Amino acid sequence: MPQTIYYAASTLNGFLASTDDSLDWLLQVPQDNALGAADAFMERVGVLVEGSATYEWMLRENDLLNHPERWQEFYGERPTFVFTSRELPLVPGADIRLISGEVGQHLAAISEAAGDRDIWVVGGGDLAGQFADAGALDEIIVTIAPATLAQGKPFLPRALSWRELELTGTRQIGRFAELSYAVRREEASVDEEPQVSALAINVQIPPALRWVDTRRDRSFELQTINVRLLPDGTLAAKAYGRPVEGGRGGYTPFAVPDRPELTQLISAAADQAGRLWASHR
Ligand SMILES: NC(=O)c1ccc[n+]([C@@H]2O[C@H](COP(=O)([O-])OP(=O)(O)OC[C@H]3O[C@@H](n4cnc5c(N)ncnc54)[C@H](OP(=O)(O)O)[C@@H]3O)[C@@H](O)[C@H]2O)c1
Repeated sequence: MPQTIYYAASTLNGFLASTDDSLDWLLQVPQDNALGAADAFMERVGVLVEGSATYEWMLRENDLLNHPERWQEFYGERPTFVFTSRELPLVPGADIRLISGEVGQHLAAISEAAGDRDIWVVGGGDLAGQFADAGALDEIIVTIAPATLAQGKPFLPRALSWRELELTGTRQIGRFAELSYAVRREEASVDEEPQVSALAINVQIPPALRWVDTRRDRSFELQTINVRLLPDGTLAAKAYGRPVEGGRGGYTPFAVPDRPELTQLISAAADQAGRLWASHR
């Protein structure tokens, strides 16, 4: 199964390109031995995927329509899928496939084209985000250049948390810092905040506060109050009692009368329950 890797250079402050698609901030940095790392990465790659702005930048920057042989110098025979809604000029002799729509629709064809190698998502950032949205991004390798831009095209305009990004490698390549992350799909985990819908406690009603209520001609002496803490923070209370004449019927609920001493009892019980819950083991 090929891995899908978003491998791109970024400014120190997270831009892939300037707003007018310039990479001068990157190309001006003395490359030293940085190109060797890119060549080594290329060994892993079976297929490239990119958005139309990235493809058009390559066409312009390298005058590929007039010098199509340069495409092979960069990418060899590897197929390249270009996401676009337009008819773009194709580099003669290169295996370039124009596609559009949901990333998920094309995953099978892209994987098949990768063979036993990996898929390089070249950019831009939103296209890499579309792969992440589809749960189809396995790794991010970012090469950080010693440059910042006041504004530009973002490296990855998505919100991924630490749970989804595991740092798997760091290295210095000349003047660049390379960071590698495995992308994990967020799964339900015990670390997540549990959703508590209610807390319930039972309070004994002191004998002096008990009262008698009737249901279907039977009298009940109310002896306990069940108090529930609702998700909105309010308390809901019901009283339970025993038939005065004895026998079954202990689970019949009754409304709690609006008496200050009962309100105080419920409030004190909730406070005590809070302390007990807080110190549970
Ligand atoms: N720093 C680096 O290492 C690095 C790496 C890669 C790219 N770059 C640069 O970063 C810039 C990226 O530009 P960009 O952010 O605009 O991204 P891009 O992904 O290259 O191009 C975006 C365009 O691709 C097309 N597209 C994207 N998703 C599509 C989909 N699902 N279906 C159909 N079409 C789709 C749309 O245009 P249309 O439909 O109009 O064609 C969209 O406007 C470029 O300047 C590029 O050269 C830098």
